[in-house]
Amino acid sequence: MKRVGFLTSGGDCQALNATMRGVAKGLYQIYKDEVEIIGFEDGYKGLMYANYLMMKQSDFSGVLTKGGTMLGTSRQPFKLMRVPDENGLDKVELMKHTYYKLKLDALVVLGGNGSQKTANLLSQEGLNVIGLPKTIDNDLWGTDMTFGFQSAVDIATNAIDCIHTTASSHGRVFIVEVMGHKVGWLTLHAGIAGGADIILIPEIPYDLNKVVKKIKERTKNGSRFSILAVAEGAISKEQAALSKKEYKKYLEERATKYQSVAYEIGAKIQEMTGQEIRVTVPGHMQRGGTPVPYDRVLSTRIGAHAADMIKNNEFGKLVVVKNNVITDIPLAESAGKLKYVDPQSDIVKEAKLIGISFGD
Ligand code: F6P
Repeated sequence: MKRVGFLTSGGDCQALNATMRGVAKGLYQIYKDEVEIIGFEDGYKGLMYANYLMMKQSDFSGVLTKGGTMLGTSRQPFKLMRVPDENGLDKVELMKHTYYKLKLDALVVLGGNGSQKTANLLSQEGLNVIGLPKTIDNDLWGTDMTFGFQSAVDIATNAIDCIHTTASSHGRVFIVEVMGHKVGWLTLHAGIAGGADIILIPEIPYDLNKVVKKIKERTKNGSRFSILAVAEGAISKEQAALSKKEYKKYLEERATKYQSVAYEIGAKIQEMTGQEIRVTVPGHMQRGGTPVPYDRVLSTRIGAHAADMIKNNEFGKLVVVKNNVITDIPLAESAGKLKYVDPQSDIVKEAKLIGISFGD
């Protein structure tokens, strides 16, 4: 009998259940009744404190389209992994203890950057771990695509589409703040798909004068409105020049004064142009709802690949997508590295070619 543990860790996204379904269906095909799947509740917490569910085959039916995660999730910061828990117990030892006590043959971790760092740590500690690339941010190093990303692009694009109609009616400047943590993938894709006029992402620090120039140009050319897609991590040239400590202080001050980056940029543009500005923050909506077909296909393929890896006893790896091929790389290769948008990439150049401003 094979025993495989599943856990979903970090911020949720739309295709977590679809991916678990893919792995489970693959395993049931390979092992028939000779496999048991154990679902740990609320991410690594469930593994630490042995909170788990014995999953049934039927648990994986009808979940392809269901967003969120049937196992629950939690954020367990990597930097605190080696800090003892409230009872003074080593968290990694607790997880190893559960793994061996339950006689697991493999552990499948669906997670983003921090979660895969922990997966790598557990793999180095001798556990049979496979990582699956989840995040709406698409910032996991080593994979072209993460599941959840395209679904989030869909929602953020929808938000920009909705803003378009009201912005054009009222002749206003609108700012849509898009998630993505420290990277600009989601904003770049939703911005292009939604026809934004200005896209501000962390990888390309902006100059507010250039942003304002673009808005004024549009007004001069007869456009009654402008739409800015601004990444939650967008940063100005002056902010990019600050030391880490100074930037942290600046972020604290901004949180009390403006709430978030879009409100800050909005207030400043209003001051500089005298134009009416409105800000929209779709926020966690971007992680919610049903996975788009692309993500359902990707999750199914990733899940099937993971089941095959378990059959072949291939562990310590992250399943990735490279040029539309599903493959895998050592967890250690990806752990701790972020995948940023390259300011010189074709997609950025093409966006600039059609007149989208990045404020640089
Ligand atoms: O990593 C996914 C993500 O949605 C980021 O885009 C965002 O910065 C963060 O999680 C929000 O985290 P939380 O759900 O803890 O507010």
